[in-house]
Amino acid sequence: MPAVLITGAGKGFGRAMLEEYLRRGWTAYPVVRDSRVAASLEGSGCRPIVADVVASDAEGLIAATLDACGDPLDLLVNNAGIIRKARGLAAAEPEDLESHFRVHCLGALRCTRAARPWLRRAERPLVVNVTSRFGSIGQTAAGGFRGIYAYNVAKAAQNMLTACLDQELRDERIRVVAVHPGRLRTTVGAADADTEPAVAARALADWVDRLDRDAPCACWDLMRGGVIEW
Ligand SMILES: NC(=O)c1ccc[n+]([C@@H]2O[C@H](COP(=O)([O-])OP(=O)(O)OC[C@H]3O[C@@H](n4cnc5c(N)ncnc54)[C@H](OP(=O)(O)O)[C@@H]3O)[C@@H](O)[C@H]2O)c1
Repeated sequence: MPAVLITGAGKGFGRAMLEEYLRRGWTAYPVVRDSRVAASLEGSGCRPIVADVVASDAEGLIAATLDACGDPLDLLVNNAGIIRKARGLAAAEPEDLESHFRVHCLGALRCTRAARPWLRRAERPLVVNVTSRFGSIGQTAAGGFRGIYAYNVAKAAQNMLTACLDQELRDERIRVVAVHPGRLRTTVGAADADTEPAVAARALADWVDRLDRDAPCACWDLMRGGVIEW
């Protein structure tokens, strides 16, 4: 069975992806922060990992579980995310920029490093960093989005991380891409959210199946198709 590790799998898009992959018969490692959430997932056949992706022990906790199971890891989805919907420079607290960077960028870095040895063992390993249209520097500069500084800056940083990781890890046949999942009806979702997480989760799993592993590293628009300018 192929295996997937999904961060932020307790609710929202992460939870929907977990349910989708379990339905497809994959071995699933959901990373959740709350041990009660992990306990509630036990019966579903997955192997929960309790970890906070901003904590320094996350890498060890993830590696220990993957090591104990020993299987190759086909897919890592760096999905954990936060948003404080404060708009404009006056509301852009430096602490918020820091906390968003820690989750969206450092969390993805930590989890990718933890998963790397098991990704290497898979036939077509893939890392999907769940990004956002709001991380596009090109679209922001063109007037597309007014700033939630902390979120937008963190997603732009995560996009650069995606490109850096892909350049290095493609030598090990591990591809790393960014995916904007659409406008989802979750706590992170914007006012114009129009898509149920389950619909996007199904689309993502189909898209991962189809993705040409020789495709360029890009920021893919899951629900609309095509790519979003970095
Ligand atoms: N919703 C949208 O329209 C939209 C659009 C573009 C991109 N995204 C991205 O999609 C991803 C999923 O967001 P969502 O919409 O599903 O929001 P959500 O329902 O709020 O889910 C976010 C998940 O991330 C987890 N998380 C947050 N900080 C974490 C940490 N430090 N360590 C481990 N887990 C952590 C949360 O855990 P707890 O349950 O413990 O809080 C939660 O399970 C995010 O990266 C978001 O930026 C969403």
